[in-house]
Amino acid sequence: MSPLRIILVGLGARAQFWMRVIKANPDCTIVGLVDPSEAARERALEQWPDAVAAADVSLLAQVKADFVLLATPPGGREAQMEAACAAKLAILAEKPLADSVELAAHYVEMAEAAGIPLMVGLNFRFLPVTQKTLQLFDTVGTPEFARFTYERWRDGWRPNFNKYPLTMDQPMLWEQSIHHFDLLRYVYQSEPVEIFAKTFNPSWSMYRDDANVSALITFANGVTVNYQGLWQSNWQAPGFQWRTECTRGVVVQNEQFGDLNYALHGDAALTPVALPPYEQWINDAVALLAAFVATLRGTAPLLCSGRDHLNSLRMVQACILSSQQGQAINPADLEQHARREIDHTSTQSALQQRTSL
Ligand SMILES: NC(=O)c1ccc[n+]([C@@H]2O[C@H](COP(=O)([O-])OP(=O)(O)OC[C@H]3O[C@@H](n4cnc5c(N)ncnc54)[C@H](O)[C@@H]3O)[C@@H](O)[C@H]2O)c1
Repeated sequence: MSPLRIILVGLGARAQFWMRVIKANPDCTIVGLVDPSEAARERALEQWPDAVAAADVSLLAQVKADFVLLATPPGGREAQMEAACAAKLAILAEKPLADSVELAAHYVEMAEAAGIPLMVGLNFRFLPVTQKTLQLFDTVGTPEFARFTYERWRDGWRPNFNKYPLTMDQPMLWEQSIHHFDLLRYVYQSEPVEIFAKTFNPSWSMYRDDANVSALITFANGVTVNYQGLWQSNWQAPGFQWRTECTRGVVVQNEQFGDLNYALHGDAALTPVALPPYEQWINDAVALLAAFVATLRGTAPLLCSGRDHLNSLRMVQACILSSQQGQAINPADLEQHARREIDHTSTQSALQQRTSL
């Protein structure tokens, strides 16, 4: 079987990991490289000299490929999505799919109408620590409530970091909490029904908009999560703890990519859980790519679909609205709200059309 041909769109920080992961997968190869930056294209061509490089997505109509991998900033992907759908290329898109729920929903509908698979790169689901956490519930029982703290002073000026989060709206929520919200839905196997949140930006923040969020999240199965996500804590040493209280004990993850433990109610100490070897940003991307390849080869269902991702994006939007309005929001209501908006807009435009006749 010949390798699947990929057009990599966006050749910045994240693409460097993808190029390494794709190189290690004999079932994939890169045939096209797209980025408006000439320097970024030249750097990528050094690794993939046989690929065709271009400054824009018109390349998608010119080079024969099997899928596109979007490693571009989430804002401004309209032309990329349109070009991929027009060329009937499957899409693996980095998270978040868009920087608004409405736009993401539009992309999902476009891909569905074009009949192409759309997967969002939610690599945290594929971490060994996440997979092991799911298994631990057999031992410690059913989750009932949790505390999720992610504390970081993220130096947005670091040369190897993307720069767009410095000026975007709500960078913590769209760029980072989206991973955490997806994990909460995935691990607790339930959808949120109520979110009360406060977003804020401390005096030392280098980000234009709120880099910190606190939220109280309730899921349909009753699980309640105290969530704190900080991109602007005020200590350069990061902190992380995800502690889930279950019917027979607790699961405690003390590090973002590992350090998993559990204790039964009467245990004097935590029991550490052995995890397979893991290289940060690599093993999870390897597993995610393998899952997408399996879908395209027809041997596995699509995971992390764009449609599923909308439920995590609605959690982001619910946090923003809750903070603005000072009241709890049910993310499911946002879907109805969006539908009402769409109905209202189409009624308005129908009325306008009728008036102008
Ligand atoms: N899953 C993860 O763990 C993870 C980690 C880091 C970043 N990301 C995601 O990856 C995406 C890219 O982030 P990054 O850190 O690489 O950002 P970056 O700013 O370093 O790179 C983005 C690249 O896209 C290019 N670009 C911009 N508009 C383009 C267009 N219209 N067509 C083609 N290329 C275009 C830019 O020139 C730049 O080279 C974001 O969605 C981000 O959230 C995911």
